[in-house]
Amino acid sequence: MKPIEWNDALTLGVDPLDETHRDFIAHIATLAAAQDDQVLHALDALNAHTSAHFEQESRWMRDCEFPPLGCHEGEHQKVLELCVELRARIADGTQPPAMAARLAEALMEWFEQHAASMDAVLAQWMQSRGYVPALDADLLLVQPQ
Ligand SMILES: [Fe+2]
Ligand SMILES: [Fe+2]
Repeated sequence: MKPIEWNDALTLGVDPLDETHRDFIAHIATLAAAQDDQVLHALDALNAHTSAHFEQESRWMRDCEFPPLGCHEGEHQKVLELCVELRARIADGTQPPAMAARLAEALMEWFEQHAASMDAVLAQWMQSRGYVPALDADLLLVQPQ
């Protein structure tokens, strides 16, 4: 398994995007390392970050008229739904807390692909349009613990 940590291949060259992605990975790493009694807390933080992270990208995509917006949002939605569903299933006991570490691994694997494809294309598009994205205040409130 690959380590759940930042690596230079993930840098896309748009600071607010890279900063958000560093936080995303920090949340995933926290989830991967969480003890059973910390898993729901870590999932809540990850899901709050992920929701704000994806909403931020949606805002940027609308602002700079990014053509494949629907495709990018569709992928985000599937991933967020998976995280929210696992949170509910661990909370109601239909899945064990250990599933959270599996989710963390899958998210890291997904994110490497996503950053290299959809987010990379978005970064290039924003740069080519001279669009300077701003970080959402919501994201700064959701820091990994
Ligand atoms: Fe992203
Ligand atoms: Fe994205």
